[in-house]
Amino acid sequence: MTKDTLVRLTLRQPDDWHVHLRDGDALSTTVPDCARSFARAIVMPNLKPPVASLDAASQYRDRILAAVPDDVSFEPLMTLYLTPSLAIDAVREGRASGLIKGVKFYPQGATTNSDAGIAALDTVMPVLDAMADVGLPLLVHGEVTDRDIDIFDREAVFLERTLGPLMARLPELRVVLEHITTEDSVQFVQAHPAMGATITAHHLIYSRNDMLAGGIRPHLYCLPILKREKHRHALIEAATSGHPQFFLGTDSAPHAIGDKESDCGCAGCYTAPHALPLYVSVFDQVGRLDQFEAFASIHGPRFYGLPLNTNTISLEKRPMQIPESRPFGTKTVRLLGAGDTLEWSLA
Ligand code: NCD
Ligand code: ZN
Repeated sequence: MTKDTLVRLTLRQPDDWHVHLRDGDALSTTVPDCARSFARAIVMPNLKPPVASLDAASQYRDRILAAVPDDVSFEPLMTLYLTPSLAIDAVREGRASGLIKGVKFYPQGATTNSDAGIAALDTVMPVLDAMADVGLPLLVHGEVTDRDIDIFDREAVFLERTLGPLMARLPELRVVLEHITTEDSVQFVQAHPAMGATITAHHLIYSRNDMLAGGIRPHLYCLPILKREKHRHALIEAATSGHPQFFLGTDSAPHAIGDKESDCGCAGCYTAPHALPLYVSVFDQVGRLDQFEAFASIHGPRFYGLPLNTNTISLEKRPMQIPESRPFGTKTVRLLGAGDTLEWSLA
């Protein structure tokens, strides 16, 4: 990474280790928006129906590739959705062929399109054993779904009730705790050196007051839900510390405006177009620009055992007003922080 003047930051091209590209005509927005910043992305499988077979993953990959603009190169890294009936052969063949880079565990009912997820991990232990055997990572949405657990506690309780016992039972399993939101998760990950964790830009920038104080802001509603300031500070420290277990995952999760501004609004923030300026502004604010490349471009590929990208991209310290919206199929999606001004822009 070079900082030739104070205003330009050139780094190895980043990857996004957690993104929702959706499907159908949404791909003509989501794929270019992701591919303009990221060389590769771990593509979440929570479509309807879920991506739960090698054929489905391969066909989804083809649809994504068809939407990549001619002037960029982009590699979608495919995942399988852990359903109660996911085949062990899909895990073994998916890993052997190189098509599949991870299996996503959604606790049933935890988030968008998680109905096909898992109610009790015991039922899928043979699949998890096979994943540990072949070294295929389990990508975890870390929240319990029990109605009696407060939504702000669901991540911390998940560590205690679900992830801790799983790691004790199957220590060889490679695990990424996705979109972590709490100090508890930072500490849990650091206590398990073989794990990885992704951190979103929105969890680095906003806390729950931003979403709820002085008016409810549905475009800040995502899962896991934004937490207190002390947790945001723990995430900033983890992301900017150079600690190799933490890496960039936007969890860019578009929903049409009407589905978010609704009586029962959907969870998810759309950040793909401006993710890098969002993240780099945070690193700049805490004086850790020198750690941005490690977080964005090095720790992820090291965890997944993939080569580092060799091309570079540049960001400039030049104010950028976040655009209001992007087309989303026949509808419209609003960008996170629409209308706000960021200190950094893509060069
Ligand atoms: C994601 C989505 O909309 O698919 N939503 C979100 O709030 N993050 C699902 C997820 O990652 O939880
Ligand atoms: Zn997600």
